[in-house]
Amino acid sequence: MKGVILAGGLATRLRPLTLVTNKHLLPIYNKPMIFYPFEAMKRAGVREVLLISSPDHSGDFANLLKSGEEFELKIYYGVQQNAKGGIADGISYAKEFAKNEKIVVILGDNIFRTDLKSVIGKFEQKDKGAVVYGVKIPTHSQQYGVIEVDDNGMVLSIEEKPEHPKSDIAQTGIYLYDERVFDFISRLKPSARGELEVTDLNNIYLEEGSLQCELLDWWIDAGTSHEELLRANNMVAEKVKAGEL
Ligand code: DAU
Repeated sequence: MKGVILAGGLATRLRPLTLVTNKHLLPIYNKPMIFYPFEAMKRAGVREVLLISSPDHSGDFANLLKSGEEFELKIYYGVQQNAKGGIADGISYAKEFAKNEKIVVILGDNIFRTDLKSVIGKFEQKDKGAVVYGVKIPTHSQQYGVIEVDDNGMVLSIEEKPEHPKSDIAQTGIYLYDERVFDFISRLKPSARGELEVTDLNNIYLEEGSLQCELLDWWIDAGTSHEELLRANNMVAEKVKAGEL
C-alpha cells in the first residue's frame, strides 16, 4: 500500500492568509496543517508517501518535511501542474509512484484520529474496489460530497455539494483505491467548475457496486473558511491537551 497526500489547490477561500504561502503550511495549534495527514499515514503503517503540491510552494514542503525521517516514513514529492485541476487530477500524478500497488489518499487539510490500519489491511486482501471515509455531520452537509449508504456499508449514492442532501454523511478526504484508479481517472471529464472531481471517480466504483463507506468518529476539514480554520485550531488544541490526538 502506498500513500498519497494532496496539498495543491489555490485556497482562495483563505485569502489573505494564502497569498504568499500554501494553505497546508498554515498552523493548526502547534504544528503546520500538513503534519496531521503525515501522522495519520504513520499510524496506518504506510511507509512510503507521495506529497503532491502546487508549483508555487513545492520547495517549502521539501524544506519542512525533508525525507520524512521525523515521521518514520519515506516522503517523495510531486507537483500538480494545474493547481486547480481537481482532486482526481492530483491523484493521477501518483501513477508511476504507485507501481501497481493499491493507494490510500488523504487530503492535506483533513484532521482525524481514527486508525486506518485495520481497514487498509482488509482492503489489501481484496482483488478490487474502493473505500471512502464518511462522517456524520448535523448541518451544512451541502458544502461537501454527501454519501448515502446501505445497511452493509455499501455506497448507494454520492452527490457533490447537493442542494438537498439525501443523508447526513459527508464524504471526507480519505480514500482507498485499487490498482485501476489511474485508468478510471483517465476516463473523467472536467466538471462545471473545471476540475476532475473525486466524486466522479468514486461514482465509477459505485456503478460497479464496489464502493464501500467507513465512518470516522470525528473529522475536521481545516481549509474551507477562516471560521473552520479557527475551529480546527481550537478543537485540535483541546484534543491534544486531552490526549486524544
Ligand atoms: O474535504 C472533503 C471534501 O473535499 C469532500 O466532501 C468533497 O466531496 C470533495 O470534492 C472536496 O471538496 P472541495 O471541493 O471543497 O475540496 P477543496 O477544493 O477544498 O480541496 C480539498 C483538498 O484537496 C485540499 O487539501 C487541496 C487539495 N487539492 C484540491 C484541488 C482542487 C489539490 O491538491 N489539488 C486540486 O486541484
